[in-house]
Amino acid sequence: MIMTSRIRKVALTVHITSTLSWLGAIAGFLALAVAGLRSNDVQLVRSTYLAMELIGWYVLVPLCVASLFTGLIMSLGTTWGLFRHYWVVIKFAITVVASVILFMYTQTLEQLGDLARDPALSIEALRNGSPVLHASAAILALLVNTVLSVYKPRGMTAYGRNKVDRRRLPVEPPVVLSSMTTALDQERAKRGTAMGVRAGHPCHRPCRALSDRSFNGWGSGALELSAILHRRREKFRRKGGAKLKNLTKAGAQILRSKE
Ligand code: HEM
Repeated sequence: MIMTSRIRKVALTVHITSTLSWLGAIAGFLALAVAGLRSNDVQLVRSTYLAMELIGWYVLVPLCVASLFTGLIMSLGTTWGLFRHYWVVIKFAITVVASVILFMYTQTLEQLGDLARDPALSIEALRNGSPVLHASAAILALLVNTVLSVYKPRGMTAYGRNKVDRRRLPVEPPVVLSSMTTALDQERAKRGTAMGVRAGHPCHRPCRALSDRSFNGWGSGALELSAILHRRREKFRRKGGAKLKNLTKAGAQILRSKE
């Protein structure tokens, strides 16, 4: 089920907060891991391993679960889908692998914590390079996820292309199209790209439909967008070219030039 714009924003806020908090928490964990490996202060070394055990269980694990859960909501509740776009599939795979490794690694952190509680053990025997290694790899993986999320590289899976093709069929009635859109819109619809439509979009703040890059390559999406544009133009005409809410000067000019 596709979320409404308001719910999507709330969900996206929770998603970004949890995922980037996870990244920040790992950065803190890495600082402790480096201190545990390099410091000569016995108390400090012992306390870093105890702190890492706590952070692992009470910060990293909950944030990792929240990232995965909210990521699934963002995928399944929007047109991005879970298996339609490569960038979402890759993010999902990276997060699942990172989560499994984290869950397994909590056992190691518990063992290190137990060793740190043993006053008889020297700090040389306690030092361990694996927390530094794991935290560095995790930061790299989450950075890849962040970059993928921001750039959202094009590229649809076979499943995604299939879905688009199936959606296209029932929404392309040429009769309706010719009766309600201009020749220009028809041309855009034929090309099936959101780009052309976006160029003529009169709205000051692009609506969700227009800003959604998943419309690229969607013939049906372009048709829906043409209809949106058409309705806006009609509304504008009815108001006799009066100021329309959300309409910039440039937007009004575009509409006037098409009168
Ligand atoms: C540590 C892991 C993750 C990080 C760092 C991360 C980061 C982000 C960020 C920063 C955004 C906002 C991008 C934007 O709006 O321009 C985002 C959006 C998104 N994420 Fe994630 N994410 C993670 C995990 C996941 C997972 C596991 C999934 C899927 C199962 C997922 C699916 C999505 C989707 C579909 C959006 C787009 C939402 C939209 O614009 O409607 N994410 N992610």
